[in-house]
Amino acid sequence: MSDLFDLNFSPNADDASEKPDEQKTAAQTAQARIQELSEQITQHDKLYYVDAAPSISDAEYDKLFRELENLEEQYPQFLSSDSPTQKVGADTSAETTSPLTIADNFVNRPHFSPMLSIQDVFSDEELATFWQRWQKLSESESPQVTIEPKIDGVALNLIYEQGQLVQALTRGDGTSGDDVLANALTIACVPHSLKGTFIPSRVEVRGEVYMPNQAFHDWNQQREEAGLKLMANPRNATAGAIKLLDSAEVAQRPLSFKAHGFGVLEMGESPIITKTQWQTHDDFNLALRDWGFILNEPQWQATDLEGIQKAIAELNIQRHDFDMGTDGAVVKIADFALRESMGFTARSPRWALAFKYPPDQVETTIKAITIQVGRTGVLTPVAELEPVLVSGTVVSRATLHNQDEIDRKDIRLLDTVVIEKAGEIIPSVVRVCLDKRCHSSEKYCLFDAVNGCCPQCKQEIKQLEGQVAWRCINLSCPAQLSNRIIHFGSRKALDLEALGQAVAESLVKNDLVKHPLDLFTLDEEVLAELNLGDEDKARKLGAKQGTKLLNSLEKARNEQPLSRWVYALGIPQIGEVAAKELSRLHKNFAELMDSPILLELAQLKASDKKDQHPLLSDYQIAAELGPVSAQSLLSYLEREGELLLSQLAQFNIQATSNNYRPKGQTAGSEQGALAGLKFVITGTLSQPRDHFKDLIESHGGKTLSAVSTKVDYLLAGDNAGSKLDKAEKLGVKVLGEADLTQLLESN
Ligand code: IVH
Repeated sequence: MSDLFDLNFSPNADDASEKPDEQKTAAQTAQARIQELSEQITQHDKLYYVDAAPSISDAEYDKLFRELENLEEQYPQFLSSDSPTQKVGADTSAETTSPLTIADNFVNRPHFSPMLSIQDVFSDEELATFWQRWQKLSESESPQVTIEPKIDGVALNLIYEQGQLVQALTRGDGTSGDDVLANALTIACVPHSLKGTFIPSRVEVRGEVYMPNQAFHDWNQQREEAGLKLMANPRNATAGAIKLLDSAEVAQRPLSFKAHGFGVLEMGESPIITKTQWQTHDDFNLALRDWGFILNEPQWQATDLEGIQKAIAELNIQRHDFDMGTDGAVVKIADFALRESMGFTARSPRWALAFKYPPDQVETTIKAITIQVGRTGVLTPVAELEPVLVSGTVVSRATLHNQDEIDRKDIRLLDTVVIEKAGEIIPSVVRVCLDKRCHSSEKYCLFDAVNGCCPQCKQEIKQLEGQVAWRCINLSCPAQLSNRIIHFGSRKALDLEALGQAVAESLVKNDLVKHPLDLFTLDEEVLAELNLGDEDKARKLGAKQGTKLLNSLEKARNEQPLSRWVYALGIPQIGEVAAKELSRLHKNFAELMDSPILLELAQLKASDKKDQHPLLSDYQIAAELGPVSAQSLLSYLEREGELLLSQLAQFNIQATSNNYRPKGQTAGSEQGALAGLKFVITGTLSQPRDHFKDLIESHGGKTLSAVSTKVDYLLAGDNAGSKLDKAEKLGVKVLGEADLTQLLESN
């Protein structure tokens, strides 16, 4: 696999980090930083847990998290109940903090006991501190611990009642998750019923679903041969698979499961064994094996720090031969009674830690430094490297972030450097090998390297006040523009077809598009003739691809909701979740332009609690939409809002909210014409299913994936198959599209 990366992918890529303002007091600076960190961490949580596409390494995430914890400890007056440090579990994703439900067709159910995070540990010193704490808490010099691989997969909570698998919940927010039972049942190593003699009346078996490395590579290769999009890594492929709606499709994916823990354990009337006989991690392992699970092996036992360190070191060697992603070692107190007495913090149990192995590091040389221009004009220096193999990937480029970073590490052309790569995170330069530096080398200055102008449009570059990044300030810079166009059409934005990099660049080069909205001025003829090659060697887009693009633009014009439009504009700090939240609070762009909510939000201080604010309290605004995002949006609207409104009108673009429920009506709340009603959608309807799903949910209804007696209505289109049969058998009412409209009107 190659290491080509899109530097614009990171939500912070265009975020020039701020220098502390000397005018501000220390407290004000801390307050602002707390706010910034909270928003960043929330965003990273979503990327990690929901999208399975983290943009920073665990160690970098941990650094942000600890900085926030420290600041909150120093300035408790700014500690908000909204802070990521105060959430149960690490998943502070949209699924939980926002009143929105991320679109999916699964029923959300509560875990019987919460699914927590583990405290990460990155060094021997931290491990030693943890061990001393354990000695104190256990009142013993040598509490027994188990050391085992930390599986880099997707957490699943399997609930067995009387030995039968009845639910399979994703982590969700740690308190409740999506029931993906039908999908879990397709995984060969998930027992459908527990074997053996000891069958509890109810048990939650916790573990990770993962795609074995070899299977992932084979599967990805098949995709490549079939012309399908490649998956970035096994974890991503797993996260995508487990949320597929068609379990027959899931069955085709080579997924595996290993159990590592349990939630509730209720014995019921089990005559064979009592809870008191199930005392340690070993007993649990025996039970797991009896029940038919594959154990998470190898495992080590230790009763002192040296033993733990030795096991961690051994695992670090062995893990490179595992067929499963392993990014750390989990160390757990073995005795269950002791675990219980040690208890929990808000986010994690006190009886477990995860030692994270440092990312793999390799030496190479910097052949050149090139400059990428992002969609908001930030100039990012990129090291072009002598290609090297790191963690199984050939790496030939690494981001150098900005001039400050280059100065801090004193990175120069032709330097020999140590680079590292953690998982699928963009490779970075750790340090320069000074002993290998050539004598004539000079300090690298980005400004001089580009002669003070944008390498793409040759216009002036500037450093905005208090920011380290150099920016091209020419809004019609072709590099910025083509990146904005690509973002505009990306899957989570307007989902435009046939709009790749070559098309975007050619549209810009040929002066056909000066703003993403100009895409709506294109016609079939122009697109068919669009040259994606160069003057000597023309390569036309062709009529077929051109029509595809036009059809998807038509769909965007009429159907894509406000949230996608807001996200598509690529406004700094406005991610997908913030955009959905904005569309929950506003009906359209006109309302956004004139929004008292935004004005209030932008004024908030880190210590202000939105739920106690006179104007904002009714809105229950998600953590992803805070003052930083609000300020960024306001300044965008101030600059470009008028033009945007007139263009939307000119192109007859609807862009209306499909989730407008501003006050006190969270997604789970029981309000609206369809409040409390559960729907299943099947068959071919006049519009995509998502349209009806949005319609039902925006009126307070819920959509489920399977027909059962709990379902109130089946919305059935043409060729409805087994779901219709089942609904009829169970006496579930069947609606057509017209019946749904009538139901909405009559309610
Ligand atoms: S034990 C928190 N053991 O890592 C309760 N977790 O980053 C104790 N994980 O939520 C969990 N491998 O989903 C445990 N061997 C292992 C694990 C493991 C992976 C996951 C688990 C946990 C997450 C925290």
